[in-house]
Amino acid sequence: MTTGLPAGIEAQLRARTRRWLVTGSAGFIGSHLIEVLLRAGQEVVSLDNFSTGHRSNLDEVRRQVGEAAWARHRFIEGDIGDEQTCAAACEGVAVVLHEAALGSVPRSISEPLATHRTNATGFLNVLVAARDAGVERFVYAASSSTYGDSPTSPKVEDRIGRPLSPYAVTKYLNELYADVFGRCYGLSTIGLRYFNVFGTRQDPQGAYAAVIPRWYAAMLADEPCVIYGDGETSRDFCFISNVVQANLRAALVEDPDALNQVYNVAVGNRTSLSELHAAIAASLSRLDLSLRVAPPQFADFREGDIRHSLADVNKALRLLGYVPTHDLREGLAETVEWYAREASGAISNFRSQT
Ligand SMILES: NC(=O)c1ccc[n+]([C@@H]2O[C@H](COP(=O)([O-])OP(=O)(O)OC[C@H]3O[C@@H](n4cnc5c(N)ncnc54)[C@H](O)[C@@H]3O)[C@@H](O)[C@H]2O)c1
Repeated sequence: MTTGLPAGIEAQLRARTRRWLVTGSAGFIGSHLIEVLLRAGQEVVSLDNFSTGHRSNLDEVRRQVGEAAWARHRFIEGDIGDEQTCAAACEGVAVVLHEAALGSVPRSISEPLATHRTNATGFLNVLVAARDAGVERFVYAASSSTYGDSPTSPKVEDRIGRPLSPYAVTKYLNELYADVFGRCYGLSTIGLRYFNVFGTRQDPQGAYAAVIPRWYAAMLADEPCVIYGDGETSRDFCFISNVVQANLRAALVEDPDALNQVYNVAVGNRTSLSELHAAIAASLSRLDLSLRVAPPQFADFREGDIRHSLADVNKALRLLGYVPTHDLREGLAETVEWYAREASGAISNFRSQT
């Protein structure tokens, strides 16, 4: 079974079977992490409460990896808000990949308490459980939202601004706690500041869906896409394979200088929302679907949104050996067929929400 990982990491993984804990495994990024670990012969415990993730993501991983690999996975349905659940999940674990969180800036503005409960208190619960279990490495999902109102572009890890949303506050708090757990308890942590991640199994449904799955669902449902702002807002879109690679490099890196650090995880390319709309439409035009994509509609800028978000990825390159394998268009080319396959379900749900 192949993993699709760069050869060096795959060999490093296969050289030793470890037990991994992946939180948020029924979600988009977590489900890809468990898939690649199981393909590489690892033992995986995973935890999710299905608040935004789906059992169907776990079912899809099971189909992809087959029953023999799936037998190396133990799933715990539970909440990271519960300390005992976190302690049980960390038992015998060598590496934690912590993904569970309530994503979305707008959600955090309407639900700051729920966001804090999972992203701040839940994070601390997992961190304490990892410390108590004596894990070797704690890798966690940080976020580009930590750059807040910093005008610097491209974003470099040590120059951040003030947070623009409760979500950004919680993600920055994660970095502060991880750093302090390194100092106070000697825990080896690495934070990965993901920029806008996309790929298969990213949820197109709900008010808080990310832009790429939402626009695929809209175009496939013959609905216009909504651009908040003037279309010039830009992002550094990062394909899921790059994020999986960054997680595994962070988990396996041995250089002490690389530890207890945070890293940008992106490509280092800037794409405006208008360009993104055209790129998604172009990816669909290569499938024989006879779609006529409507021009986008424009609405007001959204509160809490960063205007431009572009990463400098040199730190990850230098200290982790991270080299992105996919840019936006290559990632969309690998994603489009999945969305087209999912389209019938996505279309009916999309229509019922709008
Ligand atoms: N997708 C992105 O572009 C992006 C960008 C920056 C950071 N991140 C971070 O990456 C991580 C993964 O994001 P994703 O895009 O896969 O989101 P997702 O919503 O698909 O996955 C998150 C998972 O966490 C689970 N979860 C939420 N609260 C939980 C709780 N209290 N207990 C147990 N499980 C819980 C959800 O059910 C879901 O399966 C998150 O920490 C997110 O903040 C994502």
